[in-house]
Amino acid sequence: MKIAMGSDHGGFELKEEVKAYLKDKNIEVVDFGTHSTASVDYPDFAEKVGHAVTEEPYDFGIVMCGTGIGISIAANKVHGVRAALVYDEKTAKLAKEHNNANIIALGGRTTTKEEAFKIVDAFMNSTFEPRHQNRLDKITKIEEHE
Ligand code: RB5
Repeated sequence: MKIAMGSDHGGFELKEEVKAYLKDKNIEVVDFGTHSTASVDYPDFAEKVGHAVTEEPYDFGIVMCGTGIGISIAANKVHGVRAALVYDEKTAKLAKEHNNANIIALGGRTTTKEEAFKIVDAFMNSTFEPRHQNRLDKITKIEEHE
């Protein structure tokens, strides 16, 4: 498994925790930054992770900002991205089962590291349910017409 990660300063510490958690599980992680708590702009990292997951062989991406809101909005502007802001195991599971999200977004100031580990596990251990494919196709059509 290969995961792309990115955050702004608000998500930096949580990103480092989740990255270490995944590496402990022998999962390959590519970190697109940021690499410190210095103030940066979340769209820059959303764009990098968005392009990585849509153009390269990543299984999915994880992005973080203070709340997960801004970076999820920005990631969803990249064609082919389905970024889901998830805040517990249930939303993480449904983001995979119903939406086949290719990026999950978490808030470094709203989610603890213990919650984040459970969220990431719930997402990774879930499977897309193909009965929802026609809805995803409709999302793609919106993208094509914009
Ligand atoms: C940055 O201070 C903060 O606005 C950002 O991390 C994020 O929460 C935006 O949605």
